[in-house]
Amino acid sequence: MIILGIESSCDETAVATVKNGTSILSSTIASTKEIFSDSGGVVPEDAARRQVECILPVLHASLKSANITPDDIDMIAVTRGPGLLGSLLVGTMCARTLAALWKKPLIGVHHTFGHLSSIWLESETVPTLPCITLSASGGHTDLWYRTSHTKGTLLGRTRDDAAGEAFDKGASMLGLPYPGGPSIAKAAESGNEHAFDLPIALAGEDTLDYSFSGLKTALKYTIRDLGSSWESSRSDLAASFQFAICGQLVDRIKQACAQYPDVQEVHLVGGVSANTRLRELTRHAVPDITVRTPGAIKFCTDNAAMIAAAGYFLHQEHGQKAAGVFETSATLPLDAFIS
Ligand code: KG4
Ligand code: ZN
Repeated sequence: MIILGIESSCDETAVATVKNGTSILSSTIASTKEIFSDSGGVVPEDAARRQVECILPVLHASLKSANITPDDIDMIAVTRGPGLLGSLLVGTMCARTLAALWKKPLIGVHHTFGHLSSIWLESETVPTLPCITLSASGGHTDLWYRTSHTKGTLLGRTRDDAAGEAFDKGASMLGLPYPGGPSIAKAAESGNEHAFDLPIALAGEDTLDYSFSGLKTALKYTIRDLGSSWESSRSDLAASFQFAICGQLVDRIKQACAQYPDVQEVHLVGGVSANTRLRELTRHAVPDITVRTPGAIKFCTDNAAMIAAAGYFLHQEHGQKAAGVFETSATLPLDAFIS
């Protein structure tokens, strides 16, 4: 089954074609991140305008790269949310129009479920369930125990900022460009992660939730207390901040693995899963469990191949019910499919 995936929830315009939820025929992305590098974050109005400009060229490029025609496509999957409204409208309207023109079934995919599905893309070995999945991006930080693609339990989520948002805001405080995750990771390479003792929120408490707002405040006051010479400590601050974010993420993963001894694998997905230190710390924390990350960095961050894969798994596990979900339940929460 070949699915055409469309993702336009934020500042990436992406179209992909994926066979059977795993083999990528094409994955085309137009990113506008560079235009926001000095603004500290995405400007929704500008992102939506860029989506309008990019969607059709990206669609054509993706079909050309896969060397397929609309006749070869069995279904269309599109991100239905959450995300920036103006950006989402561009992708969903394009998908609805193509579905009507080409007479194809249409599935609306929760963006987070796309990230959860990214592990299966071009994976050399078949992932084994049950697994613990950390999905961490600029918009969410969720910890799942999953028994199938679409079934599982949400164990914890952030109570305030998302982990990627903390990276982005921390980078802005440190005078580093957006997106903050890669720029903090780069600055941290030459820093000492134990130079500053930044707090790991909710550690030792009976919860698998996350919280990053206190950490952000701690960074702000640490910079203030260093005075005018704080810039000479930038790499140490970046390394310590990264260590505190990753330390908190890994602390809950470790606890979750202890609570669910049948867990076969740990999956790290979403933009923050691109972080090398997070991967190292996770492998160190759960040495007896296979830790998987998406097959390439470009599948950690937003892309349309993961949306096509998610559409395939929704269809596999829920059949026609999933195919109708876009029209009937545009605001259905993810846990309607993962319960
Ligand atoms: O999944 P994604 O592309 O978009 C959302 O769904 O939000 O994630 C983007 C987020 C940004 O906050 C970015 O700073 C973060 O992922 N990110 C990273 C890294 N690469 C991207 N965070 C930490 N380390 C990285 N290497
Ligand atoms: Zn995302």
